[in-house]
Amino acid sequence: MNRTLVNAMAAALVASMGLAACVSMTSGGGLPVSSLRGSDAATADQAPTVREQIGKRPGLQQTITRTFVGQPPLIPHATENFDEVTLTDNQCLECHGVQNHEKKKAPRISDSHLVSATGQKLADTDARRHACQLCHVPQFDAPPLVDNAFVGAQPRK
Ligand code: HEC
Ligand code: HEC
Repeated sequence: MNRTLVNAMAAALVASMGLAACVSMTSGGGLPVSSLRGSDAATADQAPTVREQIGKRPGLQQTITRTFVGQPPLIPHATENFDEVTLTDNQCLECHGVQNHEKKKAPRISDSHLVSATGQKLADTDARRHACQLCHVPQFDAPPLVDNAFVGAQPRK
């Protein structure tokens, strides 16, 4: 028998032993396994609670203190009435973009948003920053999904 075949057979044997071990663990009443919606696949999914954003229209809020260096600032205002960001349309930039922020009295996007992937300075927003809400999130009054003991740094003001 050639060597590769022997190796393949040895691997198959090890795998089947592993499988047998798993089967005996679950059938022996070992690990309790349950899914988030209950173990019955026929159970109807519950629609998630619809929550309203805390923020009102831009211009009425204070910015939210950042809690660690490099944090994308949280969005203090509502965003639910804005058009979705698409390839050709970005309403966020109509206020935060380089050309518009003064007129709109909105904080300007930071310099890091005006640098290309190869480190060149750009006159306008880099495409990697186009989908603002990948990093910046609006605010909801919702309990954390998982308890945690995070205490933010207290940044200089
Ligand atoms: C109509 C103008 C306008 C639009 C559109 C707008 N913003 Fe704002 N944004 C503001 C203003 C003004 C503030 C200052 C806080 C306030 O008054 O709510 C702000 C604050 C912010 C901040 C906080 C900045 C900081 O330094 O803490 C972030 C982040 C932000 N906006 C992101 C967004 C994103 C993402 C979108 C698109 C989904 C968006 N904004 C759309 C005007 C706007
Ligand atoms: C990849 C993550 C990411 C994306 C995408 C992104 N941002 Fe940011 N943004 C940040 C981080 C991080 C900061 C904090 C300052 C910094 O490190 O540049 C920031 C800072 C800001 C600020 C505050 C400016 C300041 O001087 O601190 C505004 C306003 C802002 N972003 C708006 C936007 C808008 C509008 C878009 C979409 C066009 C966007 N950002 C896309 C990560 C992101």
